[in-house]
Amino acid sequence: MKRCRRIKAAFIKDESSRFGLKAFKGLGGSYAVFRAVCDRLGLDYRETSFSELQSDKVHRQIAELHFVTATDGNHGKGVAWAAAKLGCQAHVYLPKGSVQARAQAIRDIGNTEAVITEWGYDDTVRYAAKLADEQGWVLIQDTSWPGYEDIPRAIIQGYTTMCREASEQLEELGLAPTHVFLQAGVGAMAGGVLGWLRNRYPDSDLTAAIIEPTEAACVFGSWQGSTAARSARSPGPFCSARQTPGSPARIRSQSRGCVA
Ligand SMILES: Cc1ncc(COP(=O)(O)O)c(C=O)c1O
Repeated sequence: MKRCRRIKAAFIKDESSRFGLKAFKGLGGSYAVFRAVCDRLGLDYRETSFSELQSDKVHRQIAELHFVTATDGNHGKGVAWAAAKLGCQAHVYLPKGSVQARAQAIRDIGNTEAVITEWGYDDTVRYAAKLADEQGWVLIQDTSWPGYEDIPRAIIQGYTTMCREASEQLEELGLAPTHVFLQAGVGAMAGGVLGWLRNRYPDSDLTAAIIEPTEAACVFGSWQGSTAARSARSPGPFCSARQTPGSPARIRSQSRGCVA
């Protein structure tokens, strides 16, 4: 910072105390759970709050509801947290190679089954989707595919809470963002944040940098080609980057100067 005299200020959005989960991911999963419950009860989500859904009356109405998801960790924690708050059950599946401590941390949230599967991330997502179909559970997945878009969209919208908070804080200081640095896994957070910023600052020359692991550089790969890329090396959520509504094409369309 000292050497970069043209940088006026740099800010980091601190999500370390979000819902006690230490991760922004809870914003997406919990908002999607909220929207799914509103749908189920025929409530208008614009006129309902998450705390209203925590009443005994609502708990009784949705006590039999089960939520299911596949996750590398933090997303599942968010889904489990929201389900527990609403008195519902959650089933969380983690891909092969996930550490037991992560699964246990999810179980500790309560009312939650957390299982490490024998498969990679994408097959674990397919398994969660299959169970949802077979058991009548509600799938809360942060990747999308044709016919399964509403929940991923709600997850992405949930992440934009971070943007609203950050921009309010910046505006109190009389500032607007000029550059944004976002990390990407499946791309949902990056896509959602860029979409929100584009709407909030339509005339800005905002520059975005998307940072992702070398082993799962799907946004980067997709950026270079015309179609979404798949990393052959990653055991993680690589191919999901092309499926999510926060996909590279969408990310690209939302930021004029974007570097992946
Ligand atoms: C701390 C952190 N940053 C970034 C990501 C990636 O988010 P997305 O998968 O929406 O791209 C995750 C996903 O779990 C995460 O936990």
